[in-house]
Amino acid sequence: MRVAILTLSDSGYAGTREDASGPLIARMVEQEGHQVVYTQLLPDGIDPLYTTLCQLCDENRVDLILTTGGTGFSPRDLTPEATAQAIQRPAPGIAEGMRYHSLQITPKAMLSRATAGIRAQTLIVNLPGSPKAVRECLEYILPPLAHGLEILTGQSGNCAR
Ligand code: MTE
Repeated sequence: MRVAILTLSDSGYAGTREDASGPLIARMVEQEGHQVVYTQLLPDGIDPLYTTLCQLCDENRVDLILTTGGTGFSPRDLTPEATAQAIQRPAPGIAEGMRYHSLQITPKAMLSRATAGIRAQTLIVNLPGSPKAVRECLEYILPPLAHGLEILTGQSGNCAR
């Protein structure tokens, strides 16, 4: 899988806070044998993320985009809104799965509004912002995601019935 990682953080973008979550995602993705082809720190808000998502899907044609941050309740947390504008086919089971797993660890998992979906041949998945949350969510979703991406990109047929 060719993977892009986008970190959403006003303070990270301003350089006043180090991005620990983006590099953590990269390590976890590479450990599973996938290739990180693009990483970027973006400010919170809709427009920068929407534009970047469209470019990565339509021009760079990456297989998977993982975002981190901006899924909570702060007024600047608009990652799910930008993602919803970019996707053509929702994949709600991925965020449902993350919350199902995460709620067994902390009730605060219900505060993430993360979403997921497909644009063209690319799957986009929102992860929460903290490294702890990233690790908990990603270790749960990565194995089934790889299977879904094989189906999306035509490398594998549908699941056996
Ligand atoms: N999910 C997991 N697995 N573990 C966590 O610690 N933290 C929650 C939630 N999801 C958490 C989690 C908290 S405290 C918040 S506020 C939301 O993610 C939103 O985080 P974000 O705004 O950084 O995206």
